Amino acid sequence: MNSIPDIIIAVDGYSSTGKSTFAKMVASEFGFLYLDSGALYRGVTFHCLEEGLIGKDGKIDEDRLKASIDLLDLHFRRAEGFTRLFLGERCIESEIRTLEVSSHVSPVSAIPFVRQYVDGRLHTFSEGGRVIMDGRDIGTTVFPHAQVKIFMTADEQVRARRRYDELVAKGQTASLEEVLTNLKERDYIDSHRETSPLRQALDAYVMDNTHMTLHEELVWMLGLLQGKFGILESPGLSC
Ligand code: DC
Repeated sequence: MNSIPDIIIAVDGYSSTGKSTFAKMVASEFGFLYLDSGALYRGVTFHCLEEGLIGKDGKIDEDRLKASIDLLDLHFRRAEGFTRLFLGERCIESEIRTLEVSSHVSPVSAIPFVRQYVDGRLHTFSEGGRVIMDGRDIGTTVFPHAQVKIFMTADEQVRARRRYDELVAKGQTASLEEVLTNLKERDYIDSHRETSPLRQALDAYVMDNTHMTLHEELVWMLGLLQGKFGILESPGLSC
């Protein structure tokens, strides 16, 4: 639907609320570039694990990370309708989605210079506009002037079940309890860190998708965009 202007849409919210599924769907429906900020934090965490920068006690060697982060060539490539994260020439899309990365990513992403690195990448990738981006602080810190801000939430048990099903479908092993514990821990750390904590922007529209289908999410978004930009015609939705 071309009548939607070239804006920036920020999608923030708790872990496993379906932010990336929603943002990808909106991107493909309305012709936006989709950027997954969490993937970049996961990429930095993967680098830490691979280079042995995280001790057995979970302590991060911040000095060594600081020395290597600016040389870290994390970027997205699009192929066959999918966006994948690359570290140099290596596709690390499946490596960054493991429970091991999930269990270290929140402390890594709480480090201020890591946030600075990721914010820099996001600003570079979004030059030109017409972007939808998901994360925890997009509408509050990365793009505080985004024209549309969405804050997603859903029941904890429902979120854990969704993430668990996703991991199982990918052939990974984890129990529902482990997934729920990880999700609660991440929500806590993400909301309580000093730098850019997860917060609902004052001008964000809240979507609780506990009982919503993807189609209902898309209809909700279409209604919001139509209302906000005074668009009267209603296009057929593909989903
Ligand atoms: O969206 P995700 O679950 O892939 O994100 C992984 C982690 O990255 C999340 O637990 C917190 C961090 N993150 C963040 O701090 N700020 C963002 N904008 C995006 C993600």
